[in-house]
Amino acid sequence: MLMQWVEHPEEQTEAALLRRRGIRHGWVRARTPDSMPDRGAMLHHWNQARAIHLPGLFLPSVANHADHIRDALAIMRRVREGESCLDILDEPRYQRRLQPDFEMLAAVHSGHDPQEIEKIAFDAVKSGELFAEDLWMKVSRLSFYEEDASVRFRFSYGLEMFKAQEDDPLRERLAAELAERIFPECALVTEDAELNALLRDMLGLQPMFVERIIYSNAPNGGAQFHQDVEQGHLGVIYAQLHGRTGWLALPRSALLEEIRAFLAEGRVLLHADFDEGQLEALCHLARDRERLVDALESEDQGVLEQLLNQSPMFTRWLVEHGWGIMLQPGDVLLLPQQTTDLCCWHAVFCLDEEPGHALSFALAPGA
Ligand SMILES: [Fe+2]
Repeated sequence: MLMQWVEHPEEQTEAALLRRRGIRHGWVRARTPDSMPDRGAMLHHWNQARAIHLPGLFLPSVANHADHIRDALAIMRRVREGESCLDILDEPRYQRRLQPDFEMLAAVHSGHDPQEIEKIAFDAVKSGELFAEDLWMKVSRLSFYEEDASVRFRFSYGLEMFKAQEDDPLRERLAAELAERIFPECALVTEDAELNALLRDMLGLQPMFVERIIYSNAPNGGAQFHQDVEQGHLGVIYAQLHGRTGWLALPRSALLEEIRAFLAEGRVLLHADFDEGQLEALCHLARDRERLVDALESEDQGVLEQLLNQSPMFTRWLVEHGWGIMLQPGDVLLLPQQTTDLCCWHAVFCLDEEPGHALSFALAPGA
C-alpha cells in the first residue's frame, strides 16, 4: 500500500513509526488498499525502473507455509541470542532437509567483512560423490548500530569479492537450492504459478531466482538508500512473509529530481537537519546533475548520505510525493535493476516492535 504521512499519530491508531538506527523520521499509515496492477502497467513501470507492488499476492501461500515461517523465525531468534548457526543446522530436523544432497562443512571466515556473524561452507553431493564445492551461507548483521538486531542469511558460492569472474550457473543453481532446503518457504517465490506467469509476461523469459537472501529486519533497522545493480541480473524480488516494512523506492532519475527539487523548494526546512556548511555543500552538488550522480554512486556519499538516510524532512518529502510503500505479510515488491542509469533506488524501515521475515532474490535470465 502507498504510505501516507501522519501529522498527529495519537489520532491514528494504525500509525507506524519510521525509525532507523536511532533516528525517528516520522509517522506513516497505509493509504486505501491497492489493487494488483494490470500487466500493461507493470511492464510500463518496469521499463521506467519503478517499483512494482503486488499486494497480497502470497497471502494464501504464507498461510500454507506458516510452520516453515515460524521455524525460520526461531532460527533468527536463536542466532540473535548468540547461538552458532552451525550448531543449529546440525540438529536432526535440519540435517534431514540437507542430507544426502548437501554436506555441511565448517564455519569459515571471510576476514574482510566486519558485519559477518558466521559463514558456513557446504558441498553438494550426488550419488555419494562430490558434485560441487564451495557453496556457502553467510549470516550477517545489517548495521553496527547496537540496538539494530537485523540479520540476513545470504546464499552464494565461490569468492565473494570476485563474483563477476566466477559465473558458474551450476553452483549458482545449487546455492539457490541450498537456501530452499534450509528455508523451505523459498518455494513461495519459486513455485507460485501466478507470479511466474507475471514475470514471464513482463520479462519475456522465465527468470531464475539467484543470490538468495533471507532478511530479518528488526526494530530500529532496515536498509539505507541503495541500488542492487549487478551484471547479469535484471532486478530483485522481495516478498514480505512476517511483519511489516516501510519502503522508499523510486527510479534513480526521479531520486535525482526529488533531491534537486527539495533543495530548491525545501531549503528552509533543512535548517532542522543541517548546518550552513552542509547546506552549501548539498546545494553545490545539486547545481550540477553529473556532480550529483557522481556523489550518489560513490562509496562515500558524504553529506548526501545524511540527506538520503538521516533527514526526516527529506523522508517526509518523498512519502508526500508518493514514493513510500508499506509492505504487509503476503505482499511482493519487484525492484527493476537494469543498469545504474535505469534502476530503482530503495531504502527500508522495520515498522514493528519485533523482527520480521522476508525473502529477497535476484532475478537472472534463465538458462
Ligand atoms: Fe536492496
